Amino acid sequence: EKDGHDWFMRKEIFEQPRAVADSLLGRRTADGLLQLDEMRLSDDDIREVDKIIIIACGTSFYAGMVAKYAIEHWTRTPVEVELASEFRYRDPILDYSTLVVAISQSGETADTLQAIRHARTQRSKVLAICNTNGSTIPRESDAVIYTHAGPEIGVASTKGFLTQLVACYLLALYVAQVKGTRYGDEITEIIHQLEEMPDHIATVLESAETVYELARTHLNTKSVLFLGRHAGYPVALEGALKLKELAYIHAEGFAAGELKHGPIALIEEGLPVLCVVPPQGRDQLHEKMISGIQEVRARGARTICLAEEGDTSIEPYADVLIRLPRVPVLLQPLVAIVPLQLFACELATAMGHDVDQPRNLAKSVTVE
Ligand code: F6R
Repeated sequence: EKDGHDWFMRKEIFEQPRAVADSLLGRRTADGLLQLDEMRLSDDDIREVDKIIIIACGTSFYAGMVAKYAIEHWTRTPVEVELASEFRYRDPILDYSTLVVAISQSGETADTLQAIRHARTQRSKVLAICNTNGSTIPRESDAVIYTHAGPEIGVASTKGFLTQLVACYLLALYVAQVKGTRYGDEITEIIHQLEEMPDHIATVLESAETVYELARTHLNTKSVLFLGRHAGYPVALEGALKLKELAYIHAEGFAAGELKHGPIALIEEGLPVLCVVPPQGRDQLHEKMISGIQEVRARGARTICLAEEGDTSIEPYADVLIRLPRVPVLLQPLVAIVPLQLFACELATAMGHDVDQPRNLAKSVTVE
């Protein structure tokens, strides 16, 4: 049942190329247009949407943070991302022109369920991104995008997260198609890039052993920081969450640009800092990230950098360098999170922890 793996979590990490491919399957009509089976919102409904609010918890919330970058960039529709547990209590501004997107792997998370119930009382449209057919959240939503990852048994979400990202990209592109904010060719091009992602994820998994060796040198580590920018920021947060929940090691993710506003005070000799380096591009994102890495290293941090193939500018500042395939910045989370999952899984198991059932955690959290 674990396909020769020692833990469900590891099996599920290695299933990710297949899960992402399944998640993309059957999403296009013969003439190349995106179609989403259980969309159930008409084109007019979608054209009417002037604000999107994404609500979710934990790992699903981080998928929502990535979605914000993609949806705003491709559709020019403003997006807010909110923790489901906070949503109702701030008296959010909602009406029929608001699309609330609930992201939940299990479809049973009580905080998320209560949030969508509230949204519906305010006449907002609700779309669920969910992995579990027939679960409560999709049943109570106007529309659903199922992620098709297959059952996720390990308590820590892995393939659930990657397929949520895929569903978010598809939603963004679908809204762009309906609203006409992107040309058809451009949408097709991005879908092609998405279709290449399973191979890229498989490439990252091929170097698992290198990441495992690295993880095993961190058995006595007390604290690890994770840095990212743009779509790499939620990746940093998710990498830190994985380490906390599996290895019970203190871990924090930061937006690299925020370092100088406080967290840099935490840096001390030998502190491991995992850095998600954005692809080299036209904007200053990459350069700014490098200068952040330089700063923590100058203060004694041990930098472990995830950077794309061919990026030589990072070499002088990386104590350890893990290569990622070259992909567009918005899609980079699909490959960048994988070494961080492997790192947390291996470190935790080497410490003797049960990664399928970490202490104090449950797979679906049905109490608020
Ligand atoms: C982390 C993890 C949790 C869940 C969160 C939401 O690995 O699994 O943070 O992501 O409890 O669960 P769903 O997506 O089922 O609503």
